[in-house]
Amino acid sequence: MQVFIKYFLIIAVLILSDESHLLASGKKSHLMKPSDSLKILNQGKVLFLKFCAHCHGMHGGGDGFNAEFIDKDPADLSDPKFQAKRSNEKIFRAISLGGSKVKKSHLMPPFGHTLSVEEIWSLVLYIRNLGINNIFVVPPKDIQMERPRNPELTRQDIIYFLKWFDEYGQTKEQTDAGKILIMNKKSCLGCHQLNEEGGRIGPDLNRSSFNYKPEWLYAWISNPQIFRPHTKMPNLGLEPKEARAIVSYLVSFQPDGEVKKSKISELLDKYLTDKGDPKRGYEIFNDPEGIANCAKCHLVNGVGGFVGPELSFVGTSRTREFLLESILDPSAVISSGYKTMMILTKERKFITGIKKNEDDTGFYLMNKEGKEVYIPKSKIKKSKTQKISTMPGNFKDLLKVKDVADILAYLSELTLPAMSASVN
Ligand code: HEC
Ligand code: HEC
Ligand code: HEC
Repeated sequence: MQVFIKYFLIIAVLILSDESHLLASGKKSHLMKPSDSLKILNQGKVLFLKFCAHCHGMHGGGDGFNAEFIDKDPADLSDPKFQAKRSNEKIFRAISLGGSKVKKSHLMPPFGHTLSVEEIWSLVLYIRNLGINNIFVVPPKDIQMERPRNPELTRQDIIYFLKWFDEYGQTKEQTDAGKILIMNKKSCLGCHQLNEEGGRIGPDLNRSSFNYKPEWLYAWISNPQIFRPHTKMPNLGLEPKEARAIVSYLVSFQPDGEVKKSKISELLDKYLTDKGDPKRGYEIFNDPEGIANCAKCHLVNGVGGFVGPELSFVGTSRTREFLLESILDPSAVISSGYKTMMILTKERKFITGIKKNEDDTGFYLMNKEGKEVYIPKSKIKKSKTQKISTMPGNFKDLLKVKDVADILAYLSELTLPAMSASVN
C-alpha cells in the first residue's frame, strides 16, 4: 500500500532542455495510474540489473563487481546526499549523455543511443526508489518509446572503411587520436581491459588485432545492437571518424610486458595452409553422430543449440587464427557471457554451468545439455568462476588436421552479406 501512496505524494514536474535529440521529451507531465508506475518501476529494475548493476551494484550502492577495476568510483546512487543534490532531469541527462558530457567521469557510459527516452525515465524512477526520501517521478507525456537505431551501416560504409584503413589505418596520427579517445574520452575502459587496466564487463581488448577483423571492430563499435540486439554493450554514439581512429589504435595495440604467447602459435602453419572444404566442414559441424557435433551447442542461422555463442556470422568478425584457437584451445579466451561457474550446495552437491543471470535470490545457470537451472543463494555453500571453458578442450586430439581445416573453411563462410566486402 505504502508504495502506492508515495506515488501520489510528491510530484516533481520535469522540465527537459531541448539541446539534444537524445533528450527529446514529451509535452506535459501527467499523473500515472499506480499500476502504470509499478510497471515502469519494474522495467527500470530490469534495465538497471542488465546495464548498470555491474558498476553501481544491485542496490545502487556503487559496489558492483566491476567497481574495483575502474579508476573512478561509480556513484552511490542510494546515498541521501547524492539524491538530494540531483534533480530528476540531472539524473536523466547523466544516463542519456554519459559522464563526459555532464562534467563527470568519462567512464560512465551514455545510454541515450541505446535505450528509449521512456526506458531512461524508468531508470530515473528506479534510482529515486533507491533513496530514502522517494521523490515522485512522472515521465513527461508522449515521450519516445522506441529505441534509437542509428547509425545503420551499409556495404558502402564498410567498403569505404576498408579503403580508408588501408591508406591511413596504421598512421601515427590515427593511432594517437584513437589512444586519446580510448584512454580519456570514451567509456571503453569502464568495461574493457587494456594491459591490466580497466573493467571486466566485456572481453579484454589486448588481443584485438589477433581476434577481430578491423572492419568488424569498426562495425561493432559503431552500433553493437545491429549485430546482437540484446548485448550489454551500449551504442556509444561514436562519430565515424572517432570509430575509425579507435580501430586504428586497437589494431596497433601491443600489450606491455611479456606477451603471453598463444598455445597454438606453432600450429598455425600446420592447420592454416590447407584451405579446407567448407561443404565437408558443414557436415562435420552438424553431424549428430560425429565426434565434433558442434551444432549441439552452437546456433547457426536458426539451427543448433544454445550452450555456446551463436556463430551465424563468425566469419565476418573473427580472424581465421582466432577461430582456430577457439577450436583447439577454447579456454584461452572465454567468450563474454560464457564463463563457467561452479557451485557447491549446502547438501554438498557440485553444480557447474554457464552463468546466465543473477538476482537477489539466486543464480541462473545453463548446463552442458542446454538446460537452465536456478539455484537459490540460500542453498549455496560456495561458488566460484572457473577458468575452463564449457566447450570440450580435446578437439585437437579427437579431430584430424583435415577435419579442422574443413570446419574452419565452413566457419569462414559464415558471413553477413552487408559486410562480405571483407579483404581477408
Ligand atoms: C562501467 C561502469 C558504469 C556503468 C555500466 C554505469 N555507470 Fe553510472 N557511473 C559510473 C561512474 C564511474 C560514475 C561516477 C562519475 C563521476 O562521479 O565522475 C557514474 C555516475 C552515474 C550517475 C551520477 C551522475 C552524477 O550526476 O553525479 C548516475 C545517475 C549513473 N551513473 C547512472 C547509471 C545508470 C542508470 C547506468 C545503467 C543504465 C549506469 N550508470 C551504468 C560508472 C558506470
Ligand atoms: C558498458 C560496458 C561497455 C562499454 C562502455 C564498452 N563495451 Fe565493448 N563490450 C561490452 C560487452 C558486455 C561486450 C560483450 C558483448 C556481447 O558479446 O554481446 C563487449 C564487446 C566488445 C567487443 C567484442 C565484440 C565481439 O565481436 O564479440 C569489442 C571489440 C568491444 N566491445 C570494444 C569496445 C570499445 C572499443 C569500446 C569503447 C569505444 C567499448 N567496447 C565500450 C561492454 C562494453
Ligand atoms: C558442449 C558444448 C560445445 C560444443 C560441443 C562445442 N562448443 Fe564451441 N563453444 C562452447 C561454449 C560454451 C563457448 C563459449 C566459451 C568459450 O569461449 O570457450 C564456445 C565457443 C566457441 C567459439 C568462439 C566464439 C566466439 O564468438 O568467440 C567458436 C569459434 C566455437 N566455439 C566453435 C566450435 C566448433 C567449431 C565446435 C565443434 C568442433 C564447437 N565449438 C563445439 C560450447 C561448445
